[in-house]
Amino acid sequence: MRTHYDVIVIGAGVIGCSIAYHLSKRGKSVIILEKGSTAGKASSAAAGMLGAQTELEEDSPLFRLGKQSRTMFPDLAADLKSLTGIDIEYEKNGIYKVARTEEQVVRFQSLINAQNQLGEETHWVAAEQLQKGEPALSTDVLGAMYIPNDGQVSATKLTKALAQAAVTLGAEIREFTEVHRFVKEGVEIKGVETNSGLNRAEHVVVAGGAWSETLLKEAGVNLETYPVKGECFSVKTRKRLINGTIFSDDCYIVPKAGGRLIIGATERPGLFDETVTLDGISRLMEAAKKVVPGVGEAEWEKAWAGIRPQTKDALPYLGEHPELKHLFVATGHYRNGILLAPVTGEVIADLIDGIAIKKDWNSAFQMNRIPVQVQ
Ligand code: FAD
Ligand code: GLY
Repeated sequence: MRTHYDVIVIGAGVIGCSIAYHLSKRGKSVIILEKGSTAGKASSAAAGMLGAQTELEEDSPLFRLGKQSRTMFPDLAADLKSLTGIDIEYEKNGIYKVARTEEQVVRFQSLINAQNQLGEETHWVAAEQLQKGEPALSTDVLGAMYIPNDGQVSATKLTKALAQAAVTLGAEIREFTEVHRFVKEGVEIKGVETNSGLNRAEHVVVAGGAWSETLLKEAGVNLETYPVKGECFSVKTRKRLINGTIFSDDCYIVPKAGGRLIIGATERPGLFDETVTLDGISRLMEAAKKVVPGVGEAEWEKAWAGIRPQTKDALPYLGEHPELKHLFVATGHYRNGILLAPVTGEVIADLIDGIAIKKDWNSAFQMNRIPVQVQ
């Protein structure tokens, strides 16, 4: 069995799989080590929204990272289809950020102005016009900020397609293999120890989602991250109830293939527990019926929960450790890991290849922007 690679990627979520895919495309030998199964955690809990303008809102390095990633989806969807046969269900079907209070109307209209000044497409849709386009919406909705360029994918299919494409290009994936510690020689990381032996590599990338911090502690590294539990459920309708995604302050409703709707999501900071609670789901049901009353007639499908990886300053960590050589981290994508997966894969592959990334991304996302303690 091979034990030496160019790159070891820890974690087969959407982030680890995208990094492995980009590195494999560049001819690197890559292995993904995953303690459970591919797409077994947050990446299969996600609703799959590509909400670059919906979720990130104001100009910042993260906003620009999200927009860059969003532009990568059409080509990525085609490449993954041809390499794996998997259709990631990419749709640029727009997102409506709906207003139910006068305060929201004012807030969203000023957001539209701010985004238009940045050259982003978005406009206000008044209640009457909104009813014509989306007749299933409640008449209580006062209007919406419409973002035509935001869209969606199937989060699970995207993750599995990235993993399979990486394998097609030569990568290996070893599931049920937990990384316990790093192989360290002085300040150089040389590999990892797992429950099934030692693997060596030129570079090691930690893409362990909400569990990255625990693993990094083994290398004496203290990152400032925390888990944010999210619950979701899905229902089925005989015909498509809504065309675009409906995003309100209390819930979102994402139309999927075959009349399915994904309705999410709760936010419980500090929790690693993946149970689904009645309180969480009933709150989402009430919120969803307020914006799309017809949801009440839909057929129940299932409910689930996942753990978002969040950081203290709400920015992902993307980069090499400032003191430990060859150790890279890609985590903290919080509510937007599906959206940010393509650009994250490219950025980490560039860093490993010694290619400079955009300056503002480098400083905003580097590991030592908050003091990283190494013991
Ligand atoms: P994960 O998918 O959690 O993967 C990390 C992997 O690392 C896991 O498989 C884990 O087992 C493995 N691992 C950890 N430690 C080790 C170790 N020591 N050894 C080996 N393996 C290890 N984002 C969007 O862009 N759009 C959305 O619509 C959206 N909706 C969401 C809805 C919900 C309910 C939730 C919870 C999240 C949502 N997100 C969304 C966020 C998105 O899901 C996450 O940001 C993203 O999945 C994080 O990916 P990841 O690969 O970092 O983590
Ligand atoms: N981006 C949606 C969520 O994290 O719930």
